[in-house]
Amino acid sequence: MGVYMWNTFCPTLFGTGALKEVGNKAKELGMNRIMVCTEQALCEFGVATQVIDVLKETGLDVFVFDKCKADAPSNICDEGAAYVREHAIDGIVAVGGGSTLDTAKAIGIIISQNGLTIRDYYGIGEAEHKMKLITLSTTSGTGSEISQWAVIGDVETGAKEMPVYKPDMAIVDPVLTYSLPAGPTAATGMDVLAHCVEAIANKNYNPYGYIFGKEGIRLTLKWLPIAVNEPQNAEARENMSLAANLGGMAISACGCQIGHSFSQTFGAQNHIPHGLGCAWGLPGVIQYTAQYGERKNLEAVADAMDIASAAYPDTMQLAQVLIARMVDLMKELKIKSIRDSGFSLEDCMLAADRFAHDGAFGNSPGAPGMKEIRDYIEYTYTVY
Ligand SMILES: [Fe+2]
Repeated sequence: MGVYMWNTFCPTLFGTGALKEVGNKAKELGMNRIMVCTEQALCEFGVATQVIDVLKETGLDVFVFDKCKADAPSNICDEGAAYVREHAIDGIVAVGGGSTLDTAKAIGIIISQNGLTIRDYYGIGEAEHKMKLITLSTTSGTGSEISQWAVIGDVETGAKEMPVYKPDMAIVDPVLTYSLPAGPTAATGMDVLAHCVEAIANKNYNPYGYIFGKEGIRLTLKWLPIAVNEPQNAEARENMSLAANLGGMAISACGCQIGHSFSQTFGAQNHIPHGLGCAWGLPGVIQYTAQYGERKNLEAVADAMDIASAAYPDTMQLAQVLIARMVDLMKELKIKSIRDSGFSLEDCMLAADRFAHDGAFGNSPGAPGMKEIRDYIEYTYTVY
């Protein structure tokens, strides 16, 4: 089976009520003057405030930077780093969706490199780590709370960049997801499914990716529809938080592939929420894997979906069964199609040139060139 790297780099405190420990954990990490890196709406709707209150009750100095936005724009990352210096911050607690957690990672990079802008550090690994970071996710989706990647939207080029900064601790408390509306719950949940499937069905085989990915798929299929229909269902929210965390670990082991390339190129061009773009891209991942990848990967996905792959010895036939299950799920979750969202096939094709520059693309099976990319996009546009 070969030799595999498995890096359990991010301690994770998981469970309903876990956020009550954020003050103690910040102290243990040596934080005194904390920047809470978050979104304005999360303060207004009393989500981030739950974390802020605990930090204050613990006696820590708290400064709130609430300018984070979707797509983690590079200029907001730079603003956050200036805010850290202005207030002599010695630790960051990030509360929000994936873009907010990624913004906090980018700020950590800028400060650690004694720099001014994240634009100078897109290509570097994590050479320095001078700013402690605790991450708390308010969605069950990206797995960003435990991943090393910061997906940044460059405001000048429009490209998605992926510099690296590892959180020092993740606190996963499903309570923070209770107020997430049905639409974003569905889209971020589909991102979980995309992580799990793409981690299994790419060319970086790793048994950890299989184990985490399969359980993430199983949990998502069972609990996502319930979380969407019953936002306050504690059991559903907790299981989706676990699924998201497993998905994050699966892609930490193996990475994503062509579906995320679609979301991160077409999505960046049209400001599509990451999870929605991943949902749209997912059926095509199965089709593409059936054409260019390994059957054993689709069998693992089928097993997690409780579909007996032995009944479908023809791999393309197996793929169609898996795709039908995913399309049914998207319909059940009332996810709009690309077409119904107002985009033409030509709009989608405009992303094709950027696929090769996307960080996930190199994990795709086979050796995809422009023809394979265009075929994938056409299938993706027409299948749902
Ligand atoms: Fe994702």
